[in-house]
Amino acid sequence: PVPLRALAAGTGVRIGTAVDMAALADDTTYRRTTAREFNSVTAENVMKWESVEPSRGTYDWQPADDLVRSARAHGQAVRGHTLVWHSQLPGWLTTGVADGSIGATELRGILRNHITTEVKRYKGRIYQWDVVNEVFEEDGSLRNSIWLQQLGPSYIEDAFRWAHAADPKAKLFLNDYNVEGINAKSTAYYDLAKRLRSKGVPVQGFGIQGHLAIQYGFPGQVAENLARFEKLGMQTAFTEVDVRMILPVDEEKLATQATYFRGLLDACVQARRCTSFTVWGFSDKYSWVPGVFDGQGAATLMNEEFARKPAFAAVGEGLAEG
Ligand code: G3I
Repeated sequence: PVPLRALAAGTGVRIGTAVDMAALADDTTYRRTTAREFNSVTAENVMKWESVEPSRGTYDWQPADDLVRSARAHGQAVRGHTLVWHSQLPGWLTTGVADGSIGATELRGILRNHITTEVKRYKGRIYQWDVVNEVFEEDGSLRNSIWLQQLGPSYIEDAFRWAHAADPKAKLFLNDYNVEGINAKSTAYYDLAKRLRSKGVPVQGFGIQGHLAIQYGFPGQVAENLARFEKLGMQTAFTEVDVRMILPVDEEKLATQATYFRGLLDACVQARRCTSFTVWGFSDKYSWVPGVFDGQGAATLMNEEFARKPAFAAVGEGLAEG
């Protein structure tokens, strides 16, 4: 079969995957499939703050450097994930804020330093950065986090300005889940993006994670949602697509799953400025889903033995027609 990345070549959409660096090192089939099928990669974990700065001032760039090097060797673009998040923060940071030894002024400096250091390190080698990740609740209110509590809502625009100063050419993204269609949460992002752009804040992309579950149905108004962000002059991207199901797997569920992958892909291919379609892992062998959602899984394009599911073929067909 023709590799997905070859099928994507004519579409203007990069086809990407999250990469698990342990699997990339240890599993030959995983490594070969990553190189053969994808022309964009995202670090599943190794660019997150807890990974790059496990103790204060002590950095571990090794696995992230390895990913960037591997991508270059295989002609793959790199999405950076993620600079500001409420999760996977290093222990020294959360503890320091909780016990009051790190106050608001110092925290702002720490955040600025984190963003500047990481973005500069990979300057020119990352085409899109998820600058702020998952900052809204489902109802469209800002998520309560140490960032909001200590710094107030302006941390969001600060983060974009700092990232832009560190790498002016990288496209800077907002990124979240449950924002595929038009709803309170995606509308909060739309309003935020509009306001920030009118103030000249360098926010250039809206990242839609795309963690779907077949038991919840396919989201409505996906094309309309992409279109409204693009009308603001922004890029869009699907950044973490997977489609889980309640186990056990059967043929009907796999067929439904295939239509969900295809539905998101078609929305991207048909949009004017949707630049990448990234799956959050391509084999069930390494998917995060079963560890978090009890009794659910089989969320990726290939099973645990790397056999292609109907969803794999559906993505290939969508790219070929795109
Ligand atoms: O670092 C330790 C490692 O030392 C240890 O050997 C291992 C044993 O299980 O655990 C490791 O940490 C785990 C880490 O993944 C690396 O494998 C954490 O426990 C685990 O919680 C962490 O999960 C990641 C999760 O983000 C954390 O929130 C998933 O792999 C990753 O797929 C997931 O990705 C997120 C996106 O970043 C943002 N959007 C949602 C998406 C799914 O939750």
